[in-house]
Amino acid sequence: MQIITEPSQMQAIAEKLRLNRQCIGVVMTMGALHEGHLSLVKLAQQTAGTLILTIFVNPTQFGLNEDLHKYPRPFDKDVALAKAAGVDYLFAPEADAIYTKHYQTTVECSEVTKVFEGEKRPGHFKGVATIVTKLFNITKPHIAVFGEKDAQQLAVIRRVVEDLNLDIKIIGAPIVREQNGLAVSSRNIYLSTEERDAATILYNSIGHAEKRLAEHDHNLAAIAEEITLMINATTGCRSDYTGFVDETTFEPVKTAETGKEYRLLLAMYSGTIRLIDNAKIIA
Ligand code: PAF
Repeated sequence: MQIITEPSQMQAIAEKLRLNRQCIGVVMTMGALHEGHLSLVKLAQQTAGTLILTIFVNPTQFGLNEDLHKYPRPFDKDVALAKAAGVDYLFAPEADAIYTKHYQTTVECSEVTKVFEGEKRPGHFKGVATIVTKLFNITKPHIAVFGEKDAQQLAVIRRVVEDLNLDIKIIGAPIVREQNGLAVSSRNIYLSTEERDAATILYNSIGHAEKRLAEHDHNLAAIAEEITLMINATTGCRSDYTGFVDETTFEPVKTAETGKEYRLLLAMYSGTIRLIDNAKIIA
C-alpha cells in the first residue's frame, strides 16, 4: 500500500491507472477506521481493481461547537487496518494541501440540505459537498462507495454527482450494526456503558416504525411523534429530530402511500454524545 499526501501526486497516479484501464474505486473517510469503513472497502473491491482510501478530517464540515480538534486521529492504526484490508493507495493530505491559501470555491446543494441534519448543522453539507467533489477530482474514481449510515450525506452526494454531471457511479453500503443494534460509528467510543445501552432506543425506534406501518398506520407524522416520546422517555436520552423522507427525493413526508419506500431519519443525544441512525421503511 502506498501512502500519498500530495494532491498532485495522487492525481498523477490516478491518471496513470486510468490510462492502464484500471477501474478505480474510492472510499472516503475521516479516519478512526472501524468495521463500517472496512465494509465500504470490501464492497468497493467487488467492482474496482484499484482501491483508494482517503483519510482527511475535513475542517469545513465541522461547526464552531463541534469536535474538530477532539476528532480521533489514530493514524498508525488506520494504516495497519487499511493495509490488512488490501487498500492499494492511502491518500492522507494535510489540511493546507487541500484548502490552499487562496482557496475560495465551494460546492453547495440546496433543497436536500435544508432539512434534518442540514438544518441542525448549518454549513455542514456545504463542507461535505466541497471536499467530496475535490477528492473526486484528486482520485479520479470510476466508482465511490459511501455508507447508508449517513443517509442524507449520501443523498447530497448523489445530487452533486447528477447535477454536476460527474461520471462516477455512487454505491450505497448497508449500515453495519453492533450486536445490540447500535450503528457502528467513530463516536461510539465516547459512550459510557450506560449511554451505549440507552442508545439502543435508536434501533428499537426503527422496529417501532416498522411495526406501526405493518399495522397499516400511514400517519408518519404521528409515528415520528411516538418515537420522539419513546426516545425522550429513555434515561439520559434526548431526541434531536425524527422524521420520514421520500426515499428518492429526500423530501419530508407526513403521510405514507401504500407500497412506497420512505426513509426514517433519527438523531438523538445519549448523554452528551450525538448519534444518528436511519432505515428504509416500506409502507
Ligand atoms: O462520512 C464521512 O466520513 C465524511 O463526511 C466524508 C464523506 C469523508 C467527507 O469528509
